[in-house]
Amino acid sequence: MTKVLVATEKPFAAEAVDQIKQIIEEAGFEFTTLEKYTQNEQLLEAVKDADAMIIRSDKASKEVLDAAKNLIIIVRAGAGYDNIDLEAATANGVVAMNTPGQNSNAVAELALGMMIFQARNQFNGKSGTELRCKKLGIHAYGNVGKYVATMAKGLGMDVYAFDPFVKAEAIEADGVKVVHSVEELYSTCQYISLHIPANEKTKKSINYQLLNLMPKGATLVNTARKEVIDEIDLLKLFADRSDFMYLSDIAPDCKTEIEKSFEGRFFFTPKKMGAQTAEANINAGVAAAKQIVGFIKEGNTQFKVNK
Ligand code: 3PG
Repeated sequence: MTKVLVATEKPFAAEAVDQIKQIIEEAGFEFTTLEKYTQNEQLLEAVKDADAMIIRSDKASKEVLDAAKNLIIIVRAGAGYDNIDLEAATANGVVAMNTPGQNSNAVAELALGMMIFQARNQFNGKSGTELRCKKLGIHAYGNVGKYVATMAKGLGMDVYAFDPFVKAEAIEADGVKVVHSVEELYSTCQYISLHIPANEKTKKSINYQLLNLMPKGATLVNTARKEVIDEIDLLKLFADRSDFMYLSDIAPDCKTEIEKSFEGRFFFTPKKMGAQTAEANINAGVAAAKQIVGFIKEGNTQFKVNK
């Protein structure tokens, strides 16, 4: 019987798991889970006889994919698939997919939530500032960026975006101002919300030169990936600019240094939690389960991300 494994170190909401299970079992497949695992060995053991698999930020390394001898499809229930070794997947004849857009609203709500939290001095009782009329720059106008723009406009923010892959007219149709370079975005906006993927081109691309262009009260909001930040530059900017603030969904590697010297100017979630809502878990999990069924039963390869 076709075996579908849901391997999530950070589990989905119970309701999402129930719905995934129902879809898998109705298709006549066997459903199994590995949740909250702490060792890679547990994952290596669990994947051994899986034909299909759903993951979140779980690392689908070459080692994992090689151990999954029967695997034909792996679906990342979420947007970013930088946690899958795509070359190894292709070499092993495994189709890799993501579920774009399914958890975007949750991530956008976290970005806005962190902005309000920081503008109000982390609710410490002291007088803060408002987001209304402040300039927000959206760095990459994909599914999450678009939701952030809509929400920020609702708060009365002045919203700008840079994305060379999206037509200017499509961005402008949302009432968002288009800028034509990253430099222009960063020098225009006090708030920047990052939505770029982590890949060879973008890793460490958010550097001192770029961040230092930001006007007074510079606040960087990162619900994308920590790897896109140049952390040596980040520490230098924190030291050089007492107005700079950094809010991130998951702590940077240099967390301890920041905590030691820059109190009140940062917030890091303890665990990556942008997509950690019941709604996002259900949307992404159900989409992943349906994509597995669609691929195995009908050969549907929509949302395939490897060659
Ligand atoms: C994504 O890429 O979809 C988000 O970063 C969510 O990741 P998660 O499923 O690990 O919460």
